[in-house]
Amino acid sequence: MLTVLERLSKKNAAALLAETRRELSSCTRCPIYLTSPITVFGEGPADAKVMLVGEQPGDREDIEGRPFVGPAGRLLDVALQEAGIDRRRVYVSNAVKRFKHELRGKKRIHKKPTNGEIDACRWWLDRERAAVKPRLIVAMGATAVRGVLGKTVPLGTLRGEVRPLDERTQVLVTVHPSFLIRLRAAEGGYEEEYARFVADLRLAARFV
Ligand code: URA
Repeated sequence: MLTVLERLSKKNAAALLAETRRELSSCTRCPIYLTSPITVFGEGPADAKVMLVGEQPGDREDIEGRPFVGPAGRLLDVALQEAGIDRRRVYVSNAVKRFKHELRGKKRIHKKPTNGEIDACRWWLDRERAAVKPRLIVAMGATAVRGVLGKTVPLGTLRGEVRPLDERTQVLVTVHPSFLIRLRAAEGGYEEEYARFVADLRLAARFV
């Protein structure tokens, strides 16, 4: 049973997220809006204890307007399940809220966001963080690390350990699911890396 204060803060968090989502849709903080009109906001419970952060929406996410619903999302879903995490109980978002891409013929090819673009989009991630107040943020990949920490830190130096982030939140750094998809298509190493990813997510499961 939730207390009155808990119910109020849950309502405020949901209202704050709804307002932020509305404002995000007209964002011009970086040039990506010139080629990608759609914004993809985070989704999940407003009072989630764990927030997962990826890089940016991909082609499928841009079409559906939801984070992690394409191939990387499918891999993430399987890994979450294996780690004992119900996706419906975590808040899933991205460091960058639009799909940066270039057109090659009819194909939309993913382009990595620059540090300037990640830093500009941090405004929105910080607002999601302030609303949700997660106990743990899982930063998946280098772009998420920059978005969450506000600086570039080599992933390998932080990977796989829960560390303090601010007075109420801790951070766990791991790889991005797309890295695993690339590895699966290449030769060797996938099984091991996938198992490490699931092991990282198991650390997050304790916070959910
Ligand atoms: N990759 C991401 O980083 N985020 C998504 O939402 C989808 C793919």
